[in-house]
Formats: sequence, structure tokens, C-alpha cells
Amino acid sequence: MDGRRVLLIIPGGIAAYKCLELIRLLRAQGAEVPVVLTKGGGQFVTPLSVSALSGANVYTDLHGLIDEAEMGHIRLSRDSDLIVVAPATADILAKMTSGLAGDLATAVLLATDKPVLVAPAMNVKMWEHPATMRNVAQLRDDGIRFVGPASGALADGEVGPGRLAELSDLMTSIEGMLADAPVVDRPALVAVASLAGMTALVTSGPTFEPIDPVRFISNASSGKQGHAIAAALARAGAQTTLISGPTDLPDPDGVMVHRVRTAQDMLAAATAALPADIAVCAAAVSDWRVAEPNGTKIKKGGAPPVLNLIENPDILATLAAPGPDRPGLVVGFAAETESDPDALVTIAREKREAKACDWIIANDVTPGTDTFGGDHNAVQFVTEPGAESWGRLEKVQVAERLVARIAAQMSAMAGAA
Ligand code: C5P
Repeated sequence: MDGRRVLLIIPGGIAAYKCLELIRLLRAQGAEVPVVLTKGGGQFVTPLSVSALSGANVYTDLHGLIDEAEMGHIRLSRDSDLIVVAPATADILAKMTSGLAGDLATAVLLATDKPVLVAPAMNVKMWEHPATMRNVAQLRDDGIRFVGPASGALADGEVGPGRLAELSDLMTSIEGMLADAPVVDRPALVAVASLAGMTALVTSGPTFEPIDPVRFISNASSGKQGHAIAAALARAGAQTTLISGPTDLPDPDGVMVHRVRTAQDMLAAATAALPADIAVCAAAVSDWRVAEPNGTKIKKGGAPPVLNLIENPDILATLAAPGPDRPGLVVGFAAETESDPDALVTIAREKREAKACDWIIANDVTPGTDTFGGDHNAVQFVTEPGAESWGRLEKVQVAERLVARIAAQMSAMAGAA
């Protein structure tokens, strides 16, 4: 299966959890396994667990694919060598029979010209119902192949045909169908980004908020993600300004870098860099600063100093506020100590609205995740219509994927204008 691509569609059935193991088995054989998770499927397995195993994109709804330049539903349906639907519910079989295409999974199935393998799993009465039997017969006539269902005890306590086929049987069917399927000559997943002629500004790194001339309030941000984004924007042709808090990182090639220390300086440098077509606020800006930093080093020995904190200006919210200088696309980050992906997405959605930015990249920065300071990031990409889980990637890959999305969005906006 080396290099073959098996698109797995996971509808909402209790056996969906078994597909996590199927993904692992397919990948162990060298297959690429992008996944479409239906709304119902997402009730049984999370996008994060699926993407962690698949190592590829998990697509959750049609509108998340507005970015046709990266991977539209037509390409998703054509660029795979084989499509597997497991566990296929009575509902998706009926939709496939009728040619419905109201969500991503069914749109992909209707648009594909590739072989499709279906592994049904449902209650025995639903399987034996004349409607399902009619649908299965029709789908077989249409050239769809079936594996299972197996017979035995079902999740609902009844006994009979309705269990998802054994994974070994699924693997045998997949291997057989792949052996017969022509190798698809597909273009790279990510279109070459072009931002030539555009301007971009990126904030990156922490800020240092002085307590006195030698002490400050800060955080553990390394700036690696923001710097990688600035470098990727420049590689894509954008004239890029990077406003960096204190970091040990070298200036990225081809990027104009302004080094600042405090949030107030970062805001001043960011607004001075306007107008810009694109703004990406990746900096971990200190939310508070000391109202009146001491002019000289505070001596110990007396009573411990009391720090009177005041809130810093919000650079992202300032840039995203409506006005003539608002960049066409404003992207923020949401670094949270929240390991539940659904809760993380909820926070990110709220932040997107509160700050009036267009997209939010949300990530979990709990100590131990290795996000702050490390080379990897597991992000949720939150836009107005949806959220996508990108799985654990190198920060450089997150940057490249984001820039491909930005390029597609900018060309869509130029086309709409
Ligand atoms: O509100 P919170 O700090 O979680 O928001 C994170 C996002 O807002 C990041 O994109 C960060 O760069 C930006 N931000 C900012 N100025 C602040 C605080 C956060 O630009 N003072």
C-alpha cells in the first residue's frame, strides 16, 4: 500500500471507534489516510484522535473546504486511490442510493470516480429492513463493493448481521481493491502559494513588561511559530514585516524585522506597519504591565513590593477593528491550557468573535505538550464556518499550511472583489 491514498469516511455509528485501529493498520502498511468525519461520526470519535492517528487532514464539513486551492471536495474525491465508508449506517446508504450530497461525505461520494468500499454496521432490524436491502442491491448494481456486516452480538443487545466486518477482513478487501485500482497521478496536496505583491505583518514572541530596570513580567513563548509564519509568508512572495518580542531566534530570510520589548512598543510598531493586506498575531503578549515600573532596581530587605498591574492594549483586537486600515485578513492565536479539543474550539470561537478577527489558530500550551519552546504544534484551525484539526505538525509545517490557506483566501477575496 506504499504511497497509496485511502480516503476514509467515518459516519456516526457506534463502531466508529474501530476505525481508529483501521487507520493505524493502513498507515502501518504505508498508506496515506485522509479522513472525512461526518457530524454524526464526530459524536463517536474526536477529530483530534483521528488526526493524531492519520497524520493527515481530517475534514469535518463542506464549508471548511471553501479553500478549493488547498483541497476542495472534488479533489478530495478524485485524488484518492480508494474510498472506504466505515461504519456505513443505514442513513448514509440511503443517501448514497439517492445521490444526496448535502454534506461533505455524501458530496465526496457523489463526485468520485474512484472505487468505493462500504462496511455497513447497524442494528440487525435496520440491516434487514427492505429499504436497506433495496439500497444495498442498488449500490451493488452501481458498482459499490461491500464487506460485511458480520453476524454476532450487536452493541444494542440484539444478535444477527449488523456488526462491522472484522478489521482483518476490511484490510483484505482494501488490499484487493487497491491492487486492482489504477495508481492516481495526483498533484501535491497544497497548491504553491503566491502572495506576490501583497504585504503582511506578523507579531511573534513574548513581551517583557518591566518591574524595574532589571526585572520583568513575561512568558515562555519562544517565537518559533510566529517566526516560521513570517518566513513562510516571505517565501510565498509577500513583503513581510515581523514585529518580534525578545527571542533568541535569528531574523528570518527576506523579512523586515522590528525588535521590541513591551506590548506598547509592539502595538506602536504594528500600527506603523499598516496598511497591510495580511496580519498574523502570533505573539504571546503579556496581558498586564506594571503601572509604574521602578526607576532603579528594587532592593530586597524591606516589605516585598506590591505590583500594581494594568491591562495592556490588545494588538490583535486593535488591528482587527473595522476601519480603513484594517488588513483584509487578520489571524489570531488562542494559546490555552485546555486539552479537550472541543472546549479549545469553543474558546477559540468566542475569541474570534470578541476580537473581530477572521481566523484563530488554537493550541494547547499546557506544560508537557512541548508547544511553548518546542518545534511542534497541534492546532485547531477555526474559521467562521468551521474548525479543522490539523493534528501534530512541525511548527514549520503549520506555517506552510497556514500560508497556503492565506494565499487561497486572498485569491478568493480578489476574485470576489
Ligand atoms: O486574549 P488572548 O491573549 O488569549 O488572545 C490571544 C491572541 O491575541 C493572540 O493572537 C495574541 O497575539 C493576541 N493578543 C494581542 N495583544 C494582547 C493580547 C493578545 O495581540 N495584548
